Amino acid sequence: MRIAFISDIHGNFTAFQEVLTDIKGQSVDQIICLGDTVTMGPQPTEVLNTLRELKCVVIKGNHDAATLDPGNAAQYKVANHLISDLYWCRNQLSPDDLQFINSFEPMHEIDLPHGNRILAFHGSPLSSTDIIQSTTPNHLLDVYFEGQKANIFIGGHSHVQMVRRYEDKLILNSGSIGNTFKFPYSPGKSVHLLPWAEYIVINQSEHSLSIDARRVYFDTDELLKKVRESQLPCASWWIEQYSKP
Ligand SMILES: [Fe+2]
Repeated sequence: MRIAFISDIHGNFTAFQEVLTDIKGQSVDQIICLGDTVTMGPQPTEVLNTLRELKCVVIKGNHDAATLDPGNAAQYKVANHLISDLYWCRNQLSPDDLQFINSFEPMHEIDLPHGNRILAFHGSPLSSTDIIQSTTPNHLLDVYFEGQKANIFIGGHSHVQMVRRYEDKLILNSGSIGNTFKFPYSPGKSVHLLPWAEYIVINQSEHSLSIDARRVYFDTDELLKKVRESQLPCASWWIEQYSKP
């Protein structure tokens, strides 16, 4: 059984297409999207159309929830400077698109051989706005995972790929497709993007379990072309991130 976990596409269809091409070469049985499909990037509609075609499980991220309810963006921890992008994104979407986003699941469980059970979520099993990082203290992990039967926990939200073992648990972050952070998120600090997408393949064979934390390069010039055509409020931010010296 091979399962690809993708997350935090954030409307970056250029990166998403490259990742899907890479996934095709991985012979996966299933794809699961861990949320934050839209906002920030220039092509939210194309991302949603492709997810519909994939017919994969999609978890609702905090940015997906905020897109449905932009008046309460603060509750979903969408930073003030991103509010105009949130409304720009919502204006691109049809009622069908919004209904599709509303159908995203809060969490998803998968049973594997050898008693392994995966729990997939966006931030933590408790909230799409919790951030689990390599530095998150063990006592907080105990709070996030209390009462869960899973032993493999995988989320997104931090935009930083992670493979961490804690006691008998594996704690994974698939990273971000469209918005890979160079540094862990820190409130008030500016974000720097890396020019690649990240995702994870979990492979359970008869005798072993393995985690493939993959990095896929995409054409940042192509992305910037789409950004310039889109009239996104945050266009200058994207251009600053990916302009070549
Ligand atoms: Fe995100």
